[in-house]
Amino acid sequence: MFCNPSIIQISEKHPEQAFFNIKPFLKWPGGKRQLLPALTQAISSLPEDFYSLHYYEPFVGAGALLLHLRPRLATINDFNQQLIFTYEAIRDNVDELIALLSVHAANNSSEYFYHIRNQDRDASVFSSMEKTEKAARLIYLNRTCFNGLYRVNSGGFFNVPFGRNPRPKICDVKLLKALNLYLSGQGSQASQASQGSQDSQDSQDSQDSQAGQAGQAGQDSKANQITITCGDFEQAVSTAQKASFIYFDPPYHSQNQSNFTDYQPGGFSDQDQIRLRDTFMSRTKAGARCLLSNADTVFIRDIYGNLGLKIIGLKAKRIINSDSSGRGFVDEVLIQNW
Ligand SMILES: C[S@@+](CC[C@H](N)C(=O)[O-])C[C@H]1O[C@@H](n2cnc3c(N)ncnc32)[C@H](O)[C@@H]1O
Repeated sequence: MFCNPSIIQISEKHPEQAFFNIKPFLKWPGGKRQLLPALTQAISSLPEDFYSLHYYEPFVGAGALLLHLRPRLATINDFNQQLIFTYEAIRDNVDELIALLSVHAANNSSEYFYHIRNQDRDASVFSSMEKTEKAARLIYLNRTCFNGLYRVNSGGFFNVPFGRNPRPKICDVKLLKALNLYLSGQGSQASQASQGSQDSQDSQDSQDSQAGQAGQAGQDSKANQITITCGDFEQAVSTAQKASFIYFDPPYHSQNQSNFTDYQPGGFSDQDQIRLRDTFMSRTKAGARCLLSNADTVFIRDIYGNLGLKIIGLKAKRIINSDSSGRGFVDEVLIQNW
């Protein structure tokens, strides 16, 4: 249900695209579900119709905003190869992915979790795995690990421990099928899949999937066109210009480096933040509408200050330490160029 006025405004303009939420299929550090009201409010103030623009999301992660608004023409990207394999598997091989997840769900235990987690430690095992197997592994580990975190160590190996969630939802069939229809270009048919699927390989999947809200969809005659790439953000938005909208959601700047921002070895340095600012400005000059979220730090205010941009301060609840007591409100900013 839409409860935010700016979301209503967007959905009224294009009911066939924004009629329901497909929730993210992964719990991802820095996921933007909480910021959706602020993001959609900013988007609803665009001078153009959002759905007439080519949507770019170069740090897509679990894609909270993408999946909320479901733009018809989109280019999504992430540096994380396992994550991009997962989007590709959902688009290209959803039935096989569901079958593999059902096996994981049937076998789930602490011992099994560590067996699957250790697959990336053995190069010969990991390189022989198909993309869809890697995708199923990522979803399984994400659903069963501690706090649903994604974190790798300096060797690039997934290192979050078993989470002991008594009833993890490992195989959400309706959600995966709805995502498949969206990513493969079949537009609002995603609604019918999510509403009508009686597939209950995992009976939990029917309980709280927001994909089930899809029933009020309009009929969509045009196909979506979603391009998925894996690489650095700068390259991913290099074609964005007039009639483009870019949402930049990078690893957040951290003054003390204690946040969960180690999506890959090497992290995201201050130099990367400056390179991102330069990319934001070069795309601005090319005519693209740009929106960026980041931590509200002195450094970020400094590098985006005095450039004629609109900077909005926000508070969001986040996990800020490795234990669950580390949840708290953190200051964030939205920066927009219109
Ligand atoms: C804050 S998260 C994005 C969260 C996302 N908006 C969501 O709703 O889940 C940042 C993402 O940037 C990716 N990333 C890190 N460095 C990158 C780079 N140089 N180029 C592209 N993506 C990068 C990470 O893998 C991570 O998925």
